[in-house]
Amino acid sequence: MTKLLVIAPGGSRRQIEAVADVTIMENIRNAGITELAALCGGCRSCATCHVYVEVERPDLLPPISDEENDLLDASDHRQSNSRLSCQITVTAEMGTISVEIAPET
Ligand code: FES
Repeated sequence: MTKLLVIAPGGSRRQIEAVADVTIMENIRNAGITELAALCGGCRSCATCHVYVEVERPDLLPPISDEENDLLDASDHRQSNSRLSCQITVTAEMGTISVEIAPET
């Protein structure tokens, strides 16, 4: 079972049980958390699903594609653990994932 700890801008926290084979972005939206804009719906064209990710098993995260990297580079708020939440599909082996929603650019 994978748990998602979602930290919204402003610091409010909510923990949800994540559904496997669904992206982090979709898990957040399906839980009714509205602070993640995700305007393109996961088409990797908006970067409004930008999050800071902490995970027990970083080796289980998919690598960053060139397209994702380019979008993150356009953000003034990029950090070493920045990812687009629509580009990470949750698996049952991930354990607990902490995702902090990045400020909008
Ligand atoms: S939802 Fe637009 S890039 Fe992720």
